[in-house]
Amino acid sequence: MSKRIYVVIGSNGQLGSEIKEISQNLEVDFKFYDFPKIDITDLAKLSAIIKRDKPSVIINCAAYTAVDKAESEPALAELVNATGVKNIVEAAKLVDAWLIQVSTDYVFDGMGYKPYNEKDATNPQSVYGATKLQGEMQACAYSKGIVVRTAWLYSTFGNNFVKTMLRLGKERETLNVVFDQVGSPTYAHDLASALLTIADKITSVNDTFFSGIYHYTNEGVCSWYDFTREIFDMENIGCNLFPIESASYPTPAKRPHYSVLNKNKIKATFEIAIPHWKHSLATCLSKLNK
Ligand SMILES: NC(=O)c1ccc[n+]([C@@H]2O[C@H](COP(=O)([O-])OP(=O)(O)OC[C@H]3O[C@@H](n4cnc5c(N)ncnc54)[C@H](OP(=O)(O)O)[C@@H]3O)[C@@H](O)[C@H]2O)c1
Repeated sequence: MSKRIYVVIGSNGQLGSEIKEISQNLEVDFKFYDFPKIDITDLAKLSAIIKRDKPSVIINCAAYTAVDKAESEPALAELVNATGVKNIVEAAKLVDAWLIQVSTDYVFDGMGYKPYNEKDATNPQSVYGATKLQGEMQACAYSKGIVVRTAWLYSTFGNNFVKTMLRLGKERETLNVVFDQVGSPTYAHDLASALLTIADKITSVNDTFFSGIYHYTNEGVCSWYDFTREIFDMENIGCNLFPIESASYPTPAKRPHYSVLNKNKIKATFEIAIPHWKHSLATCLSKLNK
């Protein structure tokens, strides 16, 4: 039997790099692409590549992810996060491929008080969140479209909150971090592994029953302050850490105060076991220290 083919777009980002790392142990023919080798805003070139590769699954990790910059570049954010996904859907249709599209907790307004499930009303408060929601709609309009929302991603690859806190904690004597934004950190390695479990299942069963939206983060809940506290404790960083309110740390884009996601659906549908965020943080830090 010939190997399954998966195309991964955005393969140099945090999540794409984690998929690349895991892919080495799998019996799948992976094709990895990032900008400028693939530009998801260029339908003609994208379609040509997909027609040539004939994947059974396309995993889209590419996105315009500069949350604050998006407020002053809404057209570019929309082009990548909405039109880009529309283009991938068009290309996927040419070869009847599944699309796994990654989205965000920022589609919610964060005014909730219990973990959001997939059917809860969206109400993005930022350009980034709004454009990612448009992308979700494009993926969901496709019979073989799957959307996985995640949050607070970090990795040994790329730039992220964990790496920034490690640097600032070593450079500074004191640090203020917001405690009124609550969510769940997500180690991109765990998410990558979950996406590959989904890819395996949908290509084995190939039933459009699986299409739709799912939530994935690590287990557990914390504020950015708690997250930083744990990073400093695990790494024995002596920097004095203080909790502050978001109002004292204004940013161009509004962030949800509460964005905990309910993960029951993904766990039940794909039999995925999700590690606690503290466990995964320890794994990531030990990898970073090697
Ligand atoms: N980071 C988070 O905290 C977070 C939270 C929730 C959801 N997510 C979602 O999770 C997914 C993965 O995020 P990430 O943190 O891994 O992102 P990332 O590190 O920013 O990587 C995104 C990748 O997409 C590429 N890209 C941008 N525009 C492109 C285009 N037009 N065509 C092809 N590739 C393009 C980027 O290339 P360049 O570097 O050259 O631009 C980059 O390599 C995204 O969908 C994001 O929205 C992220």
